[in-house]
Amino acid sequence: MAEARFHELLTWAMLVVAAGALALLGLWMFHYAYRTLVYPFIPRTSAMSLSVVAMGFALNCGFSYLNGRWLFALGPDRGTEWLLDPRFLGGAALFLGGWTLAVSSDLILRRLRRPGEREYRLPRGGGFRLVTAPNYLGELTMWTGWALAGWSLAGATILAVSAANLVPRAARNHRWYRERFADCPAERRRLLPWIW
Ligand SMILES: NC(=O)c1ccc[n+]([C@@H]2O[C@H](COP(=O)([O-])OP(=O)(O)OC[C@H]3O[C@@H](n4cnc5c(N)ncnc54)[C@H](OP(=O)(O)O)[C@@H]3O)[C@@H](O)[C@H]2O)c1
Repeated sequence: MAEARFHELLTWAMLVVAAGALALLGLWMFHYAYRTLVYPFIPRTSAMSLSVVAMGFALNCGFSYLNGRWLFALGPDRGTEWLLDPRFLGGAALFLGGWTLAVSSDLILRRLRRPGEREYRLPRGGGFRLVTAPNYLGELTMWTGWALAGWSLAGATILAVSAANLVPRAARNHRWYRERFADCPAERRRLLPWIW
């Protein structure tokens, strides 16, 4: 009886000590549950190349290892007090806002084609009112939020690698839409509303 009570207390103590880390794990799982269990099943017309899949797999294994080790082994304890820290609160808000923008923009892109069609259309509405790549802007906002909410180099690494990949793609896509669609709105920027 006393032993069971001791284990119960120990479990509670561990939860209190790791509450912030567990909340961060919740954000992480929220994003990756969508990316792995929902996003791949939204129909797409063109197949993804094996090299892109392999690269994504390798990078995400690295990101998961780095962030998991940091959160639960190498980094400072993120206990209940971290849940009220402005870095966590602001970061979590950015993470969820960025996630919403990324998901809604991806859905607009995926709905541009009717089944069997392959051609590209000019996306409109939502974040596309302001920028060519709101899905990338959402993704980068989300990882900025993650880096802030965990306040770690491991989190900043994902942001840096994602930016190195997505910023040049946003610029390339923007050029391509401008050349291809005469009705591409002049006020639409690449990635940062009103700025770039
Ligand atoms: N963190 C990172 O480093 C990272 C890296 C890559 C991707 N991501 C995220 O993963 C998600 C998907 O990325 P992605 O690069 O695959 O996005 P994407 O190139 O914009 O394409 C997404 C889907 O929409 C279709 N599509 C795009 N533009 C279209 C248009 N003008 N007309 C009709 N269909 C169009 C694409 O068809 P096609 O395949 O035929 O082009 C594809 O099926 C994004 O949210 C992105 O932020 C993150």
